[in-house]
Amino acid sequence: MIDDLWYKNGVIYCLSVATYMDANGDGIGDFKGLTRRLDYLHGLGVTAIWLMPFQPSPYRDDGYDISDYYGVDPRYGTLGDFVEFTHGCKQRGMRVIIDLVVNHTSDQHPWFKQARTDPNSPYRDWYVWSDKKPAHADQGMVFPGVQKTTWTHDKQAKAWYFHRFYDFQPDLNTANPYVQEEILKIMGFWIQLGVSGFRMDAVPFVIATKGPKAKKPVEQFDMLRTFREFLQWRKGDAIILAEANVRPEDDLHYFGDDGERMHMMFNFHVNQHLFYALAAADTGPLAKALTDTKPRPATAQWGLFLRNHDELDLGRLTKSQRQTVFERFGPDKNMQLYDRGIRRRLAPMLGGDQRRLELAYSLMMTLPGTPVIRYGDEIAMGDDLSLPERRCARTPMQWSTEPHGGFTGSDKPEIPVIDHGAYGFEHVNVAQQRRDPGSMLNWTERIIRMRKEVPEIGWGDFKVIAARDPAVLILRYDWRNNSVLFVHNLDEQPREVSFAVGLPDDAGDTLIDLLGDNHSHAARGRHKLLIEGYGYRWFRVGGLDYLLRRTEVDGGGRSKT
Ligand code: NOJ
Ligand code: CA
Repeated sequence: MIDDLWYKNGVIYCLSVATYMDANGDGIGDFKGLTRRLDYLHGLGVTAIWLMPFQPSPYRDDGYDISDYYGVDPRYGTLGDFVEFTHGCKQRGMRVIIDLVVNHTSDQHPWFKQARTDPNSPYRDWYVWSDKKPAHADQGMVFPGVQKTTWTHDKQAKAWYFHRFYDFQPDLNTANPYVQEEILKIMGFWIQLGVSGFRMDAVPFVIATKGPKAKKPVEQFDMLRTFREFLQWRKGDAIILAEANVRPEDDLHYFGDDGERMHMMFNFHVNQHLFYALAAADTGPLAKALTDTKPRPATAQWGLFLRNHDELDLGRLTKSQRQTVFERFGPDKNMQLYDRGIRRRLAPMLGGDQRRLELAYSLMMTLPGTPVIRYGDEIAMGDDLSLPERRCARTPMQWSTEPHGGFTGSDKPEIPVIDHGAYGFEHVNVAQQRRDPGSMLNWTERIIRMRKEVPEIGWGDFKVIAARDPAVLILRYDWRNNSVLFVHNLDEQPREVSFAVGLPDDAGDTLIDLLGDNHSHAARGRHKLLIEGYGYRWFRVGGLDYLLRRTEVDGGGRSKT
């Protein structure tokens, strides 16, 4: 396959306009501010930006409650400012993907307003109603502890409406062909304005059967093909990145056996086991999660992440594994959320220790897939646990030691910048880290640069190499007559490991260190490595002439041309 599918070997950076940069000084970020920061993002080396929702919204779920799919919330600017932004990205060779939140609307959306006031409105059937309170109304909440029910009585409608999430987010009746048509129209609209795809919110719920009788929702997977076909027809290189926290046995239903459904999915399964591995210095369950999520069509790709804008969901781990992660990374009740997760940012979870942060990011970047970085992680930003629920990890970007971290000139930022403690903007900011060659920011820039030069990770096939030590994970990737190998020590103590690369004859005898001078030469086919606590190594197998050795097709032997 021609290797130019952009999402197979890039680095995605996720941000929200609201908290990035406020150019007009009203205390909330905007597109003009973000556009001024594009050279920063370009310099960091990211290949795509994932924007959180920015459409008009009452903002009761940080924009995931949309009241108009075809606009920009006036606080962030205009459609004109949006196009300037996508154009600015294009000029710098960066793609833009945006959130597509179509499982539900805001209860302030005109469709819902009409649906609830007029039973004869065509919009009535765009939502999911019941005359009586359904028997299972107290089941299936996504935010347990905060959200009490999935069905709420509406006085105006004199009926109950279904909401998988908060009660101000009524679910769209996605089985209605008119709703499906509208979803395509929304995609078509933003595609015209320069985006290269969508992070589709809550996909399993979008395609599930809904209604008072749908006690056990059933996914309508064919819908995914419809979305994909439309998108590919309108713009050949556009993608859908699905938010679908599903079990490995369902992965192929989402990717499609022939790669005809979602291009990408976040690998939530690996994410949880990755945090367990970091907490316990035990990589066994992570290795299993990698193998369990290995099958996927050649054009499909995993999105790999550490933390995102939501809680770190640990619901898949065993009770004792979950307990270990809670103890190490979120011991206080205030750090936990929804009975299943941790709401902190990465840096505070890892005690602000740069060695550990580098290890975690190095590991994430070398797992099979495309890395997705959360804004602020590149400077090890912290959280503000005095803010409710997931807000704590959504504070403004910290640019400098200027007032409000250089985020705004306003004295009343809508969301406060972190200005106290070890993670306050005076200590953690971009400007300072730029001056320091050893900073997290400069490290991140270097690692992204190297990650892009190792397409074997994005495209190749991987094998877990036996390290005989649970604290150490060794992965080898093979692609087009080349191999790379990564060693990560998740323990704080140094480790000595001995391993065979596993390639025929003497092909694995030389390992060239891509980030330092620790090259390794095998003795009788085995490498012996002393690796420091939280240490990591990126090796090329053989040597640096890999581009001369690369073949045109996989498994094709040496190229003749
Ligand atoms: C998933 C998003 O990531 C989350 O932030 C949001 O609250 C829900 N979907 C509802 O849209
Ligand atoms: Ca502003």
